[in-house]
Amino acid sequence: MTSELSPIEKAKFIAAKQATEYVKSGMKVGLGTGSTASWLVRCLGEMVRDEGLQIKAVPTSSRTAQLAREVGIDVITLDEARWLDVTIDGTDEFDADLCLIKGGGGAHLQEKIVATASDQMIVIADASKKVDTLGSFPLPLEVIPFGAKTTQALIEETLIGMDVLGRDVTQRMAGDMPFISDEGNFIFDLHLRRIGNPRQLSLILNQIPGVVENGLFIDICDVVILGYGDGRVEVTDLTNDSHQELRFDVRDDDNIFFDIAD
Ligand code: 5RP
Repeated sequence: MTSELSPIEKAKFIAAKQATEYVKSGMKVGLGTGSTASWLVRCLGEMVRDEGLQIKAVPTSSRTAQLAREVGIDVITLDEARWLDVTIDGTDEFDADLCLIKGGGGAHLQEKIVATASDQMIVIADASKKVDTLGSFPLPLEVIPFGAKTTQALIEETLIGMDVLGRDVTQRMAGDMPFISDEGNFIFDLHLRRIGNPRQLSLILNQIPGVVENGLFIDICDVVILGYGDGRVEVTDLTNDSHQELRFDVRDDDNIFFDIAD
């Protein structure tokens, strides 16, 4: 029951549930990765099962693909879909321009490809993800393993000329081993603390050979749905320049998947 969820999980659930309003039968839908996105996948699975919702979904990671199949969603590849109606995903940070830092789960490469191939990208988040300036959350970079130490040195050198506060670069680990993305690559986390010019940084980082993709999403996200633990929801929509505040009535029997929260 929702009453057994922590306020933060409740906020994520509410944002995810609100986002299902954007999903209609017949749509091709990109499914994000992470704990917030997994609420969405479960909500959509419930709609498929109980309401006859018919969608085809492109997951942004092997984890999401597995969950989507488990809850009965029809999963296809991006090559099969070619173009999507909407992608709904979580984020690690977003600012007032709806620029994002993503990749906390190491899936930002597929997430960016899928979101870019969508008419609309909707971000679902709890209030902790809203920032004035991007950069407190370390910026993930997907890097190919070949020559990764050299690529790291090039990244560090590049950061010297950038409008950032910190310049530490660390390789993401999974225990004692390097973290490996779904594409077989490494992830480096850039501890920048403050990113003065995200657009410029994104362009420059992607020029470094060996860097596959950075976690900055600039001009990709159209809508942010922000959930709060007390049931409030804020919807910011850049496509019509609107900001709406809603209240989500959570019934105790609304959430049947509390025991499998990511
Ligand atoms: C994965 C991501 C996630 O969307 C991001 O890390 C947010 O995750 P969560 O919803 O668990 O806070 O970018 O690569």
